[in-house]
Amino acid sequence: MTAQIISGKEIAERLLEAELQPRVESLNNKNVQPKLVIVLVGENPASKSYIRQKEKFADKAGILHETLTYPDTITEIELLNIIDDLNNDTTVHGFMVQAPLPDHISMSKVVDAISPIKDADGFTPESVGNLFLGEDSLQCCTPKGIIRMIKESGAEFSGQHVVVIGRSNIVGKPVAILALNESATVTICHSRTQNLNNYVAQADILIVAVGRPEFVHGDQIKEGTTVIDVGIHRTDEGKLVGDVHFESASKKAKAISPVPGGVGPMTVFSLIENTIEAAERASI
Ligand code: GUN
Repeated sequence: MTAQIISGKEIAERLLEAELQPRVESLNNKNVQPKLVIVLVGENPASKSYIRQKEKFADKAGILHETLTYPDTITEIELLNIIDDLNNDTTVHGFMVQAPLPDHISMSKVVDAISPIKDADGFTPESVGNLFLGEDSLQCCTPKGIIRMIKESGAEFSGQHVVVIGRSNIVGKPVAILALNESATVTICHSRTQNLNNYVAQADILIVAVGRPEFVHGDQIKEGTTVIDVGIHRTDEGKLVGDVHFESASKKAKAISPVPGGVGPMTVFSLIENTIEAAERASI
């Protein structure tokens, strides 16, 4: 079997035209210009590269955006005051603070300060609580993008066994809850899971967010699995790889997301979609 490639890049571009641009247009017709603000502290090159992708996609969607950059000497109080200003700025519909932050600033204090109605990342405790309860709210971008790309690939969730490897607060835990809310049977595995292969071999849908290069190989999965690879790593030879060994897994999987061009573009898509959603809610 040669797997169908679930191209997040293609799905995001298609949905941009089919869904996001028309939603922005109808907001514009009501004199609403959706606006995203990205806050960057310091000079992390990976953060700058992620932000460039977000800015590019925001441009394509036709929304306003601004990136506020501060030196890594900024104090926690100063950053919290900036967040307060953004919470109160009626021209801003969604904003996010790019992680990682310098060690002297607490990411959880920063996230707690973000108003849930402008929480473009879906990271606040209220947003996470709503996701858990299955209530409408701004959802965490990577999990939201993963669920959407699986649906777009044609796979069903109801009654299927979704196995998640990874238990982070921003991918593993929320994607498991979202899959459960879609009526899947869900198993969460992680670095301490015993007999991991037993679970991986049972997966109808396997979501790998373990943070280790090429951790899952084709011989571990059953024929016909849908595989979503959340990892991204640069090898010593300079090649980008995921948490899944693509070559072997694509021989067994029914469908598989590539790295790059898989989950990454769907995360960006969800961030822009959340900003539009926040603008729609604010304009009712
Ligand atoms: N750093 C890497 N990815 C992300 C993300 O999705 N959101 C934030 N806030 N920081 C990040």
